Amino acid sequence: MQMLVAGIDIGSLSTEAVLLSNRKLVSYSILATGADSRGAAHRALDEALGLAGASPAAVRFTVSTGYGRTNVPFADLQVTEITCHAYGALYSFLDTRTIIDIGGQDSKVIRLDEAGSVVDFAMNDKCAAGTGRFLEVMARALEVDVDELAELAVGASRAAPVSNVCTVFAESEIVSLIGQGVPRPEIALGILESVAERVVSMVKRVGLVPKVTMTGGVAKNKGVVKALERRLGTEIRVPEEPQIAGALGAALIAESKASR
Ligand SMILES: Nc1ncnc2c1ncn2[C@@H]1O[C@H](COP(=O)(O)OP(=O)(O)OP(=O)(O)O)[C@@H](O)[C@H]1O
Ligand SMILES: [Mg+2]
Repeated sequence: MQMLVAGIDIGSLSTEAVLLSNRKLVSYSILATGADSRGAAHRALDEALGLAGASPAAVRFTVSTGYGRTNVPFADLQVTEITCHAYGALYSFLDTRTIIDIGGQDSKVIRLDEAGSVVDFAMNDKCAAGTGRFLEVMARALEVDVDELAELAVGASRAAPVSNVCTVFAESEIVSLIGQGVPRPEIALGILESVAERVVSMVKRVGLVPKVTMTGGVAKNKGVVKALERRLGTEIRVPEEPQIAGALGAALIAESKASR
């Protein structure tokens, strides 16, 4: 029987499970967390096990992370998201010195030293500005899916000013821009730029040290990545599946525990 380790990341919006064998990715799942985070953790693991054609007995060690990490009864260890995203980002890009992780509820900037240890971080966890949640609310106001925002903005020749950082006020701002007949691509670009602006101020608090790697679901938003690259004046690398970075890091820590 193949020996596996598991990493589970229970985020505010999405839950991921990653299965590794000898530090190699075997399978993963991504699903909505919903109201029952404990159930989501079980379903995510079951789905990843199904994809791997493995039974729960094959899992030697499980690490949980994310805001719901304490709600995973089958986890052997709980590790903070900062540590897990660091491991996850380094797995894809070993020369990473700055990590930008933007999820649904919070955004983080993590600084690593040359050895890959976390030396500093900044976090925005009280306000939705600069997060995936902000993007979701604004996309809804524009009547597009959040994963279509970047594409909608591609046609824009300029960005409509979205000046409110408060999500509730920004939403009314979008509605009023639509009412004024501002082209939707320009509004979409304004939304992406607003998120980038918030994140850049957080990067500045920690200090920009290349190379930069972006993780979390918002790294799938090419418009936000592009706006950040332009504002920071540096390339941003995105792992093949940035949304699993936290769970991947958790699984890598599980691997180091299991092989003791
Ligand atoms: N295909 C996609 N294209 C563009 N954006 C996406 C896509 N998939 C997810 N996102 C963005 O990712 C966000 C969710 O990110 P993620 O799954 O990392 O959050 P989370 O881990 O649940 O939250 P947190 O870490 O804050 O608790 C969504 O709000 C959305 O903006
Ligand atoms: Mg997350």
